[in-house]
Amino acid sequence: MSYLKKDSILNYSKNTNTMIDLNDLYDRGMELHYIANTAYPLTPTSVREYAIKGSEEIHGFLEKEYDKVKELALYFHVPFCKSRCKFCEYVVVAPNEAEMKDEYLKAALKEIELYSRIVRDDTKIVGFDIGGGTPTELGAARIEKITNKLLNTFNITNDITWSIETTPYNAVHKFDELKDIRQLGFRRLSMGVQTVNQELLKKMEREGDTLLYRKAVDAIRKAGFNRFNVDLMYGFKEQSIEDFKSTVEYTVSLAPEYITLYEMRYKLTQIATDAFSVTRNKVNQQYRVAYEILTQNGYKGNYGKNTFSRIENDHGTSDYLTNRVIKATPYLGLGAGAQSLGLNYLAYNQGAATKSIIKYMNEVEKGIFPIQDIYQLPEEEMMAKALSVMFYFGFVDLKAFKQRFNKEFTDVFGKEIDYLKLWNLAEIDNNQFMVTRNGVAHLSGVIPMFYSDRSKNELMTMNIEKILK
Ligand SMILES: C[S@@+](CC[C@H](N)C(=O)[O-])C[C@H]1O[C@@H](n2cnc3c(N)ncnc32)[C@H](O)[C@@H]1O
Ligand code: SF4
Repeated sequence: MSYLKKDSILNYSKNTNTMIDLNDLYDRGMELHYIANTAYPLTPTSVREYAIKGSEEIHGFLEKEYDKVKELALYFHVPFCKSRCKFCEYVVVAPNEAEMKDEYLKAALKEIELYSRIVRDDTKIVGFDIGGGTPTELGAARIEKITNKLLNTFNITNDITWSIETTPYNAVHKFDELKDIRQLGFRRLSMGVQTVNQELLKKMEREGDTLLYRKAVDAIRKAGFNRFNVDLMYGFKEQSIEDFKSTVEYTVSLAPEYITLYEMRYKLTQIATDAFSVTRNKVNQQYRVAYEILTQNGYKGNYGKNTFSRIENDHGTSDYLTNRVIKATPYLGLGAGAQSLGLNYLAYNQGAATKSIIKYMNEVEKGIFPIQDIYQLPEEEMMAKALSVMFYFGFVDLKAFKQRFNKEFTDVFGKEIDYLKLWNLAEIDNNQFMVTRNGVAHLSGVIPMFYSDRSKNELMTMNIEKILK
């Protein structure tokens, strides 16, 4: 299937001694649109050649790595939910482990202690998120212990906005806890609505209806949160364009400060094979309709951005995510299954694959970093990871790229940029490399242009059926 054809622009791959035609790469990204998205690397084993093995080697590596980190974003993962939604891609434990919250807290405090020995005292914390799962499921008292430990350990200042997540159900039924969490200093709160379609919610085994959502918003406001975000999802097999439109309209009536649109990512979810029934065309139309409603109602964001904000000079995302996306700031993920990205490494904590907290707790108990996989990545892999994430906002800030990698974006990706400009998929304006409206509609063809040689080849040759399941 060819979406665009032109004279070939060939890209030499050092890895495989082959030439990749950018037309073919673009076509392949469009064909595999449910995998060529902002998530990088493409599979959990893609970068295994760069793995660091052995707890002592990992310790030594991290010590050196954190000595170089001047700015860091912090994330703590809560892998508990009342029940698991079928579409969810996150690390959420099975009900039998949901009773181990106190043990989990104990392990988390120890993990923070381990990092306190290697993160420099003068490393500035530029963002702090507690995510999940459903953080409110952990309870305010445990969240307070984690927060206090982090405050006593790291250089967290008041000028950043701490952010946390809840479900609508917990906002309503754990109101006192919500108030306590606000009192702890969390100013931003994010809640998933996803959809108002009752049949779809039922199929996804997720609780929710418009009455619950409304009550949740009342509770959130009463608790004192005035930086409130609602998550919505599109790209489901059973979700029409009209259907998503009514969800967006309803959400606008809730008047949150921010609204985030998530395109369904199918990889490794319980509904992975639904991906084959979702067309790019439908997903694009759903985004376009949502964009129009949001911008007509005072929510701002460039075309292609996922988070829309009605607050002036505020991207709408948490400081943690904004720094990650725009500046590729290193982030430390604490808790089971959390992901970390350093200046030269990518790591996943124990539990990322198994969605269990047992190994995480056992390893912390032994005094070793509870890391499932850690990869020391070469620069082109770090760039590919950073750029894939930048497309979450639909642009690359050229100054931020230079600051992070000490190289000009236009020098590193000259050929790819020419190709994208030629096809009106991207443009450079005002120190920003921007994906055009046409580029947003073809984003999965655009993103692979910035992959490493290795991942370009991987995308071209992968067996998609095997990977999705
Ligand atoms: C950690 S969850 C949200 C917090 C809370 N547990 C809830 O469900 O309301 C963060 C958001 O990720 C989105 N999400 C979950 N699974 C996804 C998937 N497979 N693809 C894309 N977005 C997803 C949902 O919009 C969800 O609200
Ligand atoms: S979407 Fe939220 S509530 Fe549902 S399983 Fe994922 S983290 Fe839990």
